[in-house]
Order: sequence, then structure tokens, then C-alpha cells
Amino acid sequence: MAYEQWGIGVVGLGGIANVHLQAYRDAGLKVVGGADIDAERVAAMKEKWALPFATTDVEELIAHPEVKVVDVTAPHFLHVREPIFRWAAKYGKALFVQKPLEQYYENARQLVRIAEEAGIPLMVNQNSVFVPAFQTIERYLREGAIGTPYYCQIENRDWGDASTHPFFGKQERWVLSDMGVHHLALVVHWFGKWRSAYALLGRDSSQWGVTGDTWSVINIRFESGMQACIINNWCYRGHLRRPHSVEEVVIQGDRGAITATSQEVVIETVEPPAEVRPRFSGQWFPDAFGNAMRHFLECLQEGKPYLCSGRHNLQVIALIEAGYRSAQEGREVTRHEVMGAEAE
Ligand SMILES: NC(=O)c1ccc[n+]([C@@H]2O[C@H](COP(=O)([O-])OP(=O)(O)OC[C@H]3O[C@@H](n4cnc5c(N)ncnc54)[C@H](O)[C@@H]3O)[C@@H](O)[C@H]2O)c1
Repeated sequence: MAYEQWGIGVVGLGGIANVHLQAYRDAGLKVVGGADIDAERVAAMKEKWALPFATTDVEELIAHPEVKVVDVTAPHFLHVREPIFRWAAKYGKALFVQKPLEQYYENARQLVRIAEEAGIPLMVNQNSVFVPAFQTIERYLREGAIGTPYYCQIENRDWGDASTHPFFGKQERWVLSDMGVHHLALVVHWFGKWRSAYALLGRDSSQWGVTGDTWSVINIRFESGMQACIINNWCYRGHLRRPHSVEEVVIQGDRGAITATSQEVVIETVEPPAEVRPRFSGQWFPDAFGNAMRHFLECLQEGKPYLCSGRHNLQVIALIEAGYRSAQEGREVTRHEVMGAEAE
């Protein structure tokens, strides 16, 4: 596909924008320019990535005639994202938005509504869904390689130093909403609609500068009968780390098991007894980011539905909401309870 007509404008030229810009360069996508409210960042990133256009005026970038897709890498808070969504709506631009769409269900809903009312496409950059290793897992799952899956466990265990990041860990919510969202999006993508969730979460009081949760365990029941346990432990001081991007994924079925990270996939089956180690190319950083954007552009070009739409992503944000509510109230929380009429 020719990508030249799909000019990208990156809003928010901070840490993760570097990964986006590298991925788009590798994938041969067209970046028109970038915008940030911080003039120093604008100057530094313009030079670093040879951006043709860079500005502190976010509306000016979004209005740029060559920008067709607004890539939102500015922080995931309603007060930051709402004006960006409104400008995209005003100028009729598609939105590709970093995870989490928002930390709170009601705020995410408000953002989705802005896009839907304006009739502009909105995809959430849930890059975990586009990690080559996880796409390989999905193929084997769909082919029934391990029979009927009944349990999935994803574990991310590391010491998270949030002291140098401007906002990580500094809100009421953190690890479940900002990190767990990668894994929640993955299991919703793989296993479909969730029915209820029960979560425990907490914080290591010695972890400097963190006010949100730094560990979370969420148990999820799906409509299909599938169950999952997602562990995000960002205050682990031990030696057996499972850091982000090489978190451990285990899926058990009645005819085998898949054990994986983003770097290695092993499929073991019982009938016949076999072990398969499929090859794949590419890593989470930066390949999954280019894969996600390419998927969006191809679907827009062909007028096809795309994965991780804003509307679909509400199921993921509702799971986050259920997790926090569950941990606070000490009970299982259902999807219908969080989403009401929008659960269907
Ligand atoms: N694996 C991943 O997919 C991944 C990894 C890291 C971060 N993220 C997400 O990317 C987003 C940004 O995270 P980061 O680590 O790059 O943060 P960051 O603080 O390094 O960068 C954010 C940038 O946005 C700019 N900004 C703030 N308000 C703005 C506004 N109103 N308009 C334009 N620019 C604005 C800031 O000046 C800063 O340069 C977050 O939503 C985060 O969850 C995703």
C-alpha cells in the first residue's frame, strides 16, 4: 500500500514519541510533523528526527492539510486529550491514541463520544496486540493448537523507578491502568467479552514518588468460560524479574499449553506430543508500534473495520474500572455494572 497520502502528525513529543518516530521511519510511513506544548522538546525533536514541521501550536499541526492521522502521544488525561480530540473533530482527522485511552471509564467514554459524534476514526494504540510474538500466539490459538483454552496467566514483575518520569505513578491510579492495560487489551482481544473481575492491588511505601498502585493482580472471567489472571508487580526487589516487554504469558488448553514472552513462543501439545517453537520477526519496541499504525492506515484506505477501535477499547477501560472498584470494595465487579447499556 502507498502510505504517502496518510500523513501523520504526532502530538506530544516526549519519551514514547521517539519509539513511534523510529517505528514509522522503519515502516516507511509519512510523518508530516509534530507538536508539543514544551518549546524545548519541539526544537530538540525537530532536529533529532528531522521533522519537516514542528510547532508548539497543537491546533496548527492538526489543521495542517497534509496531516490525515493525529497520533496522540500526549499524556492520557481527559484535560490533555479532550482539546486534541475536539481539534481532530473540527478538522476531520483520524485519531490514533496511546494507551490507556484514559484511566477512568467515564472519561474514556467522553473521548469516544467526541470521535463518534464527529464521525472520525479512532483507534487506540494497544501495541501489545501487534507484537509479532503475540500475533504468532494468536494464530496458534485460533487454529486450536492447544484445544480449548481455559486459563491465561500474564506476569510482569520488576522494580519500577517512576522518580524520573513526569507522571508515571504520580496519580491515584497507575500500574493496573497504565501498565496492566497492555495485558488487559491482549486478553480481551484473544478471549472476547469479559463478564466479571476481582482485583487486589497495593503499593510499596518505600517506592519513591509513587502515589498510585505499584502492584496489581486481577482475575477475570470471560463470557466464554475462559479465565485469566494478570499480574503487574512493579515493586519486586528479587532476582527473577519479568520486566515489561518480556513479561511471561502462559495459556493452557485441554490439549496443550503456550508459554511465551515477546521474544520466544513455545507451544506444547499432548496429542501428538510435540513442541513447536515458531519463528517470527520483530520485537515489541519499536516493531509493534509500526504494525499497529500500518494496520490502522490499511483499514482506513480499504474502508475496513480496524482492531482496537475506541468503542471496542471501552471494554478494556471498563475492565480497569472494575479492577479498581473491586479492590476498593473487596468484591467481584461485572462488566454490566460498569458499562450499563453500553456493555453490549
Ligand atoms: N508501550 C507503550 O505503548 C507506552 C510506553 C510509554 C508511554 N506510553 C503512553 O504514551 C503517553 C505519553 O507517555 P510518555 O512516557 O511519552 O510521557 P512524556 O511525559 O515523556 O511525554 C509526553 C509529552 O507530551 C507533552 N504534552 C503534555 N501535554 C500536552 C498537550 N496538552 N499537548 C501537546 N503535548 C503535550 C509533554 O510536554 C511531553 O513532551 C502516555 O499516555 C503513556 O501511557 C505508552
